[in-house]
Amino acid sequence: MSSAGRFLVTGAMGCIGAWAVRELVAEGTPVVVFDRSTDPRRLRLLLTPEELARVTLVAGDVTDVDALGATLDEHAIDHVIHLAALQIPLVRADPIMGARVNVVGTVAVFEAVRARLDRMAPVVYAGSVGMFDMADADPGTHRLAADATAHPGTLYGVTKLANEGTASVYWHENRVPSVGLRPMTVYGVGRDQGMTSTPTKAMAAAVLGLDYRITFGGSTLYQYARDAARTFIVASRSGHQGAMVANLGGSAVHMREVVAAIETEVPEARGRITFEEQPLPFPDSIDSSGLAPLGPVPVTPFAEGVAETVARFRDLAARGVLTAAEAGI
Ligand SMILES: NC(=O)c1ccc[n+]([C@@H]2O[C@H](COP(=O)([O-])OP(=O)(O)OC[C@H]3O[C@@H](n4cnc5c(N)ncnc54)[C@H](O)[C@@H]3O)[C@@H](O)[C@H]2O)c1
Repeated sequence: MSSAGRFLVTGAMGCIGAWAVRELVAEGTPVVVFDRSTDPRRLRLLLTPEELARVTLVAGDVTDVDALGATLDEHAIDHVIHLAALQIPLVRADPIMGARVNVVGTVAVFEAVRARLDRMAPVVYAGSVGMFDMADADPGTHRLAADATAHPGTLYGVTKLANEGTASVYWHENRVPSVGLRPMTVYGVGRDQGMTSTPTKAMAAAVLGLDYRITFGGSTLYQYARDAARTFIVASRSGHQGAMVANLGGSAVHMREVVAAIETEVPEARGRITFEEQPLPFPDSIDSSGLAPLGPVPVTPFAEGVAETVARFRDLAARGVLTAAEAGI
């Protein structure tokens, strides 16, 4: 990955954001975290104290366009990756806050970038395959096309669809370019909240010697958190003009195979990781060909991603950092 730019990552106290910060710090790129949380615990799982000391942490609310703008100027930011959002359970628990953070927050990011367009790379933001319903997939192949039309079944999905509309309007009215990337099921160290976080929690539970029941079954598209983070960085450096959106690629894996992969890495967990049969209410076969304009993006084979995750959890457990509470179990 080439190193260039000065990055601001919103929501970087979260899983994908912490990985993006890790990748940027590793290549020596200046990075500012903009998050309303002041708890760097996920960053601590991924970065050494020396690496963390090179990261600028700004406590701010993404709906506060003035704070965003001031941070962009103070740190001469020219690349923005926007990940701050509330996921399905949090939007369900507080719909007003969910709409405010996910919809207004994204408008605020576009507005802050629009005011500084001369120096800005495309806005790269997280959409979600969660905005699609099962019925949005092709009825014959059950595959979600790259250009499928979304009919969200959750308020969270409605907010993510609104983000894509926002991006489209900011391109057509203000020439603010953007790339929206739609993850499905991200896994890896730091994935401890959200509807699809339980496969990762099972990996942590296996390492900790605990029984664990994954909350869903069936097949879904898994994305290793580091791959997702790198793809957001590649998109930010793509120089894309227009309002592009694409489904993120990954590994289509059945929950049986997830459990088997965990048992391969942690043989003593055999029989202790179980799962509910009910599949997720989202398409499981997903066309990611819309990513082509970005060039090559990484997809770690699933078995390798699980092996790396287990190795990281083992290291954290050995250092006393990984506890059941820390892993969200
Ligand atoms: N993880 C997945 O599998 C997945 C799947 C589809 C889409 N996505 C999207 O990717 C993005 C990142 O996902 P993640 O798993 O890293 O999320 P996460 O829940 O781990 O982190 C979200 C971060 O946003 C921050 N945040 C919330 N409200 C904020 C506000 N008002 N101002 C500033 N920061 C705020 C939180 O403090 C948190 O650190 C989100 O937009 C999410 O909807 C994730």
